[in-house]
Amino acid sequence: MSIKKVVLAYSGGLDTSVCLKWLQEEYSAEVITYTADLGQGKELDPVEGIATGTGAVKVFIEDLREEFVKNYVFPALKAGAIYESRYVLATALARPLIGKRLVEIAEEEGADAVAHGCTGKGNDQVRFDVTTMALNPGLKVIAPVREWDMKSREEEIEYAKKHKIPITVTKESPYSIDANLWGRSIECGILENPWIEPPEEIFETTISPEDAPDKPIYIEIDFISGEPTKLDGKEMSPVDLIASLTKIGGANGVGRVSYVEDRLVGIKSRETYENPAATILFDAHKALEEITLDRDMVRYKEEKISHEYSRLVYNGLWFSPLREAMDAFVKASQKKVTGTVRIKLYKGNCSVVGVKSPYSLYDQAMATYEVGDMFDHTAAEGFIQLWGLPLKIKAAREKK
Ligand code: ARG
Repeated sequence: MSIKKVVLAYSGGLDTSVCLKWLQEEYSAEVITYTADLGQGKELDPVEGIATGTGAVKVFIEDLREEFVKNYVFPALKAGAIYESRYVLATALARPLIGKRLVEIAEEEGADAVAHGCTGKGNDQVRFDVTTMALNPGLKVIAPVREWDMKSREEEIEYAKKHKIPITVTKESPYSIDANLWGRSIECGILENPWIEPPEEIFETTISPEDAPDKPIYIEIDFISGEPTKLDGKEMSPVDLIASLTKIGGANGVGRVSYVEDRLVGIKSRETYENPAATILFDAHKALEEITLDRDMVRYKEEKISHEYSRLVYNGLWFSPLREAMDAFVKASQKKVTGTVRIKLYKGNCSVVGVKSPYSLYDQAMATYEVGDMFDHTAAEGFIQLWGLPLKIKAAREKK
């Protein structure tokens, strides 16, 4: 199949720059690069120069932060989507958005393929490939790293030199890092040994809990229908709110997670994350749901939605009817998830210390053990007789 024009997901780093040249060489194709600003905090200024210097016919650099938070991060937050109860899916949520833009640009520019720099071992390739298949089955996906036979970083550097790719290869970092507003994912190098504590040098947005201030700090977050809107009483845009929580949480050592994760391709992999804002917001959101959702909704959402939603996002199925249907359910569940949560941050801990809502189902007169108790204790007896009846019948039968 001959490919004339490709849209490449481009970071400006070594891997994707080599991809950019390689696509021109191997496929004799014109390459358009696409770079999304998702709040990764890296300088995006050099990207255009390197891309054009490496032969890109057109360069797109877009700020997708707001769309990312509103349409990807907040739905996942409201769904309670944390993969394997550990990973807040920062990387996984960004892929479908980038993938969607690659497809849209390919359509606008009349390209016949999209391309990405993912390896054949990870989840990210699945997310990009499936997104493309789901949005435009006529487009081909090229993953140069899966195809070429360069085996090491050295060979890539060699290739870059040979083809005069205008990239300054800085001191080699042994880690593979993906970062955006919602969190940073760090893998490889010494981290591959799950017995080794992640070294301090890998962290960027969080300080070590040991070095965090000796005094706790308190913050208040307001939510409307499950979405955070204010920090300490101040209205904030979704992007600013997450950026502020990252600062405050990170300065108190909150949001570090390290665990052995199950990848879709079947391998276990030691992953380290830092995501202060996500840690705080998931805790706060859950606390607010605890007082605003009825018992069955709490149970159903946790058992049937949160885990399924997280797996679906992790496994690259964002653009699926099931995710859309689950979003509709989640939206309906969030109508009354409005209120304020008070949080204490202290040396790596994030604790909810207060919660209130105009829709609170918490009834102190029902709950209290003090005077003013309105709960009908006598009603409990008959209830328990029926509740335990099946076991009572069984036990009586076995006695006979
Ligand atoms: N394991 C995580 C995931 O599959 C993080 C992947 C990080 N990607 C990277 N290029 N370092 O979502």
